[in-house]
Amino acid sequence: MNSFDTVLEQFINDLNNNFVADIYANIPSGKRLRPKLIFNIIKNEQSIKLAAIIELIHISSLLHDDVIDDALTRRNENSINNTYGNKTAIMLGDILYSKAFYELTAFDTKIAKIVSKAVSTLSIGELEDVKLAEFFNTDKELYLSMIYKKTASLIEASTHAGAILAGHDENIYKTYGKNLGVAFQIIDDILDITENSQTLGKPALNDFKEGKVTLPYLIAYEKSSFNTQEKLKSMYKRVLNKEESTWVKELLNNTNAIKDSYNYAKTLANQALTGIKEPKLQEIISSILDRDF
Ligand code: FPP
Ligand code: MG
Repeated sequence: MNSFDTVLEQFINDLNNNFVADIYANIPSGKRLRPKLIFNIIKNEQSIKLAAIIELIHISSLLHDDVIDDALTRRNENSINNTYGNKTAIMLGDILYSKAFYELTAFDTKIAKIVSKAVSTLSIGELEDVKLAEFFNTDKELYLSMIYKKTASLIEASTHAGAILAGHDENIYKTYGKNLGVAFQIIDDILDITENSQTLGKPALNDFKEGKVTLPYLIAYEKSSFNTQEKLKSMYKRVLNKEESTWVKELLNNTNAIKDSYNYAKTLANQALTGIKEPKLQEIISSILDRDF
């Protein structure tokens, strides 16, 4: 049985283009959460292929996302758009995800539909993310629906498809992936506020500057007086000086917005475990909640 890395490498080699292989080699490998989840449900030749397909889709979505977000770094290194320019980053994304779809055609229609539908959903989520960053959104439901689509849909598809390959109960593993995905994004949003840029591998307190009113901000806003709400709004989409950043962080702490967001993620994570027997899948949930990057 070929290893995950070998299969991924083979997919890139199949593309038969040195330039693609060279740029691809400059992408740091990341957490590989989706493959890890699949392998803790089932590890065989098919699931390794499926995990490589999903990882390629994930990598290409980040290549596009970094262009959309004008991100200069990813995983503590220069982003591909920063090093090679937007055009190359977009095209590399297109090449990788079309290769993923090519490989997906070898799978059962049911699995192919689950994965391809998730890619439409994640793209719609990204569009909603862009749209929600155009104004100061105060609707929590809009935010939660967007992060489900943007982040959780592909994770949900990974565990759902893994369960089908393993012959397990589909709904249990689907719910696991969905809840883990939403919790993962909420933790990501919290870390943007609590961690420094070195740990994150990208600038800290960046979401609000980029127009993203994430869960901690939504909670703090909801719990604040009119004057505080207005002050918070006045800082939206701006580069903040030290005093202003400190004010924002204090507000998020004093209103318990960080704590409430964390508890929300924790509740989702606990619900994710209903019916899950694999200790490793339980461990992954804990590591998502406790991570600092
Ligand atoms: C990261 O969000 C982005 C995503 C999870 C999804 C991006 C999806 C697309 C660009 C749709 C296109 C899809 C394909 C397959 C090409 P973030 O910006 O909140 O997280 P970050 O801080 O890691 O950048
Ligand atoms: Mg981004």
